[in-house]
Amino acid sequence: MAGLPIANPITQAGSLLMRVKELEEQHLAYRNSVVCAFNQLLDLKDISTGVHSTRLAEWAIRVARKLNIPESHLYQVEVAALLHDIGKVGVPDAILKKQAALTPEERAVINRHPEYSWSILRLFPGLEDASLYALHHHENFNGTGYPSGLKGQDTPIVSRIVSVIDAYDAMVSNRCYRKGLPHAEAIRRLLESSGTQFDLEVVQTFIPIAEQDADAVFAAAGTSAQAAL
Ligand SMILES: [Fe+2]
Repeated sequence: MAGLPIANPITQAGSLLMRVKELEEQHLAYRNSVVCAFNQLLDLKDISTGVHSTRLAEWAIRVARKLNIPESHLYQVEVAALLHDIGKVGVPDAILKKQAALTPEERAVINRHPEYSWSILRLFPGLEDASLYALHHHENFNGTGYPSGLKGQDTPIVSRIVSVIDAYDAMVSNRCYRKGLPHAEAIRRLLESSGTQFDLEVVQTFIPIAEQDADAVFAAAGTSAQAAL
């Protein structure tokens, strides 16, 4: 009597493994598309600052590597650097782009953006850590920041990295209402606010990286780093 064909367990396990690998690759591709789409959204809303966002991500990764953050975690660093301000899409343009001084009420609205960023990013599987880093990117080293008033090492290291890089980018970038600061002045201000706003170790790690890239950054902005110094 002919029996049912017996499945080869080795072949079955092999094809199952291939399917799992395929699904993992699909998931990663989907996640990357979401990150790119959000980044595009920031550009469309004109929320990104002057330095190209990929440069911000590169800087964050280089600082993270120097601070011994494991390679396996660098994707979260990259996403946090790219999308920490995604919550600004929830802030009305009239406040976000206001050139005059903000009222305390308007400032309070803007200060909600890290929570908005967290509430968006946490919805995507695999971006949970990045969402927490975005939540805390405006904490100050001395505990006077927001939203949680975290102090020193209580703020995740990736948030402390994003905070420094973001501040440098904001300082050196040209705006329609003001010219960006020279590189040396931006570094002076980062150092001046170390221990209060910024983590000195992160600032000191970032300085040689910023020095190295200053020429390219200022050339892209249409000025010269040397002239700016
Ligand atoms: Fe921010």
